[in-house]
Amino acid sequence: MFTTTATIDPAFVIAPVPPRLFGSFVEHMGRCVYGGVYDPGHPAADADGLRTDVLTLTKELGVSVVRYPGGNFVSGYRWEDGVGPREDRPVTLDTAWRSIERNTFGLNEFMAWSRLAGVEPMMAVNLGTRGVEDACNLLEYSNFTAGTRYSDLRIAHGVRDPHNIRLWCLGNEMDGPWQIGQKTATQYGQLAAETAKAMRRIDPDIELVACGSSNERMPTFGSWEAEVLDHTYEFVDYISLHAYFEQTPDNRAQFLASAHTMDTFIEGVIATSDHIGAKKRSRRKLKLSFDEWNLWYESRFAGQDNLDWTEAPRLIEDEYTTEDAVVVGSLLMSLLRHADRIGVACLAQLVNVIAPIRTEPDSAAWRQTIFHPFALTARHARGEVLRVEPVTPTAHGTDRTGAPAVDVTATRDPETGALTLFALNRDEHDSGRLDLRLHTDENLHVVEHLVMGGGDLLATNSQAAPDRIAPRTSTHHEITADSRLTIDLPPVSWSIVRLEPVPAG
Ligand code: AHR
Repeated sequence: MFTTTATIDPAFVIAPVPPRLFGSFVEHMGRCVYGGVYDPGHPAADADGLRTDVLTLTKELGVSVVRYPGGNFVSGYRWEDGVGPREDRPVTLDTAWRSIERNTFGLNEFMAWSRLAGVEPMMAVNLGTRGVEDACNLLEYSNFTAGTRYSDLRIAHGVRDPHNIRLWCLGNEMDGPWQIGQKTATQYGQLAAETAKAMRRIDPDIELVACGSSNERMPTFGSWEAEVLDHTYEFVDYISLHAYFEQTPDNRAQFLASAHTMDTFIEGVIATSDHIGAKKRSRRKLKLSFDEWNLWYESRFAGQDNLDWTEAPRLIEDEYTTEDAVVVGSLLMSLLRHADRIGVACLAQLVNVIAPIRTEPDSAAWRQTIFHPFALTARHARGEVLRVEPVTPTAHGTDRTGAPAVDVTATRDPETGALTLFALNRDEHDSGRLDLRLHTDENLHVVEHLVMGGGDLLATNSQAAPDRIAPRTSTHHEITADSRLTIDLPPVSWSIVRLEPVPAG
């Protein structure tokens, strides 16, 4: 057993926990929409075809904001095809995923679903095959009160009140060769700036996200952000980040260190954004929208070109292990550590497609392993994120990443004094003892200590065994009168420990 020490001090505040940190993503892709959130034939569907079991799990997951309708899908999408009487909607080709799109679910159905799920919508406009005019038309349809062509069209479609959608993505992954309508940074930067200007004229209260690189491995990473922000800095509020991680037969230690890769990525984008801000002598600091992140076993995906024009095909329905849940928990810790700069983050995606929630036509929806760290973090990361600087050895692993063995993140609710600790032990062999000094005024006691991992790392949840893997309660902690807390962290595990002030008397 090795030891990690750290101090928890309520004065070391990074930032309040951003409510939009716990977002997710619904794309017209595979069975995320059709057969996922929307499935009129399923016994759990309501009168509008929305699956109530998925709604229930979405609420339990604690999702605050949901990005829609893509993803790659949006870059070939005509939003008008998905509004109005269903019988008049065309059947179209989804060129992103070589699928047949029936358009029976569109903007107004998504907004109805969002209201039932209690989530804020985050809409993406098509800057792949379309441009300024169509983005403005969609905004007019969504947010303008009445008396114009598109606002009256919305009213004619039975939606009297404007949707008032605040968050808008200016396209998706526009640097990607796989993207319909891929652009250079200059082309995209100019288009995004002009679209942003025009959209803000229609609704000055919207918040806009410019596309950053599709991932950190893109050859133009860094220069893409710089060029795009050179054009858009004054007109947007966020620059986006996307990242997917996967374990391969020879990268286990690197996989367990994914949160450190994520930290470096986030800090690189902050540096680039602030460099452009400084160059422009701007007083604004842009926020980051980490609007796609998750684990994706991309090496198992044959690629878009091998898809064959079917409706709602089973696409990238990855089944996640306990070890995957440990890594997802650690990625949430990385997001929390950057709460001062990340304004939005979306776990991609919500249902079936690399998702925490899975469905089949013949059973109730179930929780994948990764559902649990997300739900627990969204529920209990409350108040302010505290800076924690653990002193910890380097993890022993199958390869040498130099990553620290233990990560610790803490949030504290200044109203109640409740403290939540998140801890990751990425060491593949040894248990760790976490020795914390709590510099809190209140006497705290542990009210809950849950662990994922530390054994059974390859186990998954499935339709046949939907509840096989869930967090388990641990008693391996001790708190002393002089506010020292020790917590045992099994090898390859993610833990959440909740403390509350000892009730008076
Ligand atoms: O989430 C799946 C896909 O990953 C999205 O459509 C795209 O934006 C990203 O490449």
